[in-house]
Amino acid sequence: MDKLLEINGLTKRFGPISAVDNISFSVSRGEVLGFLGPNGAGKSTTMKMATGYLSPTNGKVSVCGYDVLHSPLEIKRRLGYLPEGAPLYGDMTPNSLLNFVCDIRQLNKEKRKTGYEHVVESLQLERVLHQPIETLSKGYKRRVGLAQAIIHDPEVLILDEPTDGLDPNQKHEVRQLLDRMSHSKAIVISTHILEEVDAVCSRAIIISQGKIVADQKPSMLERSSRFHNAVGIRIEAENSERCISLIESIPDVLTVEIVRNDDELVEIIVFPSNKTDILGSISNSIDEGGLKVLEMYVERGRLEEVFRELTVGGFEVGNA
Ligand SMILES: Nc1ncnc2c1ncn2[C@@H]1O[C@H](COP(=O)(O)OP(=O)(O)OP(=O)(O)O)[C@@H](O)[C@H]1O
Ligand SMILES: [Mg+2]
Repeated sequence: MDKLLEINGLTKRFGPISAVDNISFSVSRGEVLGFLGPNGAGKSTTMKMATGYLSPTNGKVSVCGYDVLHSPLEIKRRLGYLPEGAPLYGDMTPNSLLNFVCDIRQLNKEKRKTGYEHVVESLQLERVLHQPIETLSKGYKRRVGLAQAIIHDPEVLILDEPTDGLDPNQKHEVRQLLDRMSHSKAIVISTHILEEVDAVCSRAIIISQGKIVADQKPSMLERSSRFHNAVGIRIEAENSERCISLIESIPDVLTVEIVRNDDELVEIIVFPSNKTDILGSISNSIDEGGLKVLEMYVERGRLEEVFRELTVGGFEVGNA
């Protein structure tokens, strides 16, 4: 595979704080890597070192084969970076900022025109092009930040919380944009929105206290959740007791948890032993018992629960 970003033994210490502690990974063309971790885990610090904005205490970063410290111009040509909080020049307008970025990136006339038109259209900036950036709403500022990161069509994109502050429609647009760009680039995004990982990322790295605690496809991470292959069932309250005792007697059922219980409706989650597929045995038992259920679904697993377990302490997931 075509590795566009390679990080080896990256470490950053701020006095006594180990913000990033010996992190290694690489990202290939076509991959969208979700970089996850709790507040203060070291995501932004890693991204700052990967883009050359902060020098590491130890370790090495290369972008398209160029060393970040030794070839800063070469890597900046190939890299688009959206820093945390999208710092921008507030007295400029999006139009003047984007033109300024094209100037300092020395884009030729054609690349400049295509790049400008592409970002204005895909990030829907038309309406605010001539309004000072400091007067823009948070979401528009973020979109201008993204626009400057992608205007030169870089091979590697490092985006620190790209959808932070965007409304649901804009989140959707940005995710589609990332998806369209993903085939020709290596993309790293940090996010706290776990559904985003499912929606756009082909791989997820979770870091905690500066260390990688998981590096997997999102679907594999979900599989490590205790909810993987659990079966959710909604039952009319009057049938619930009989239904639960029937289900509890199935050999592969480990436990049944009641998650909702009101006068009309009971909702349960049935956990299998060893995450086995128990849907078939549950429906057979229910049919044989002559019971009716309102809804039944199988869980893929919950990223949020895996994230919590890995970052608060708990189980380990094997790395890819
Ligand atoms: N310039 C600095 N001086 C001292 N400590 C710093 C500096 N920059 C970051 N840190 C510390 O490094 C650790 C990692 O911070 P970082 O900003 O990388 O976390 P993060 O994963 O991006 O968190 P968040 O989800 O809140 O954005 C934190 O403990 C932070 O306080
Ligand atoms: Mg951060």
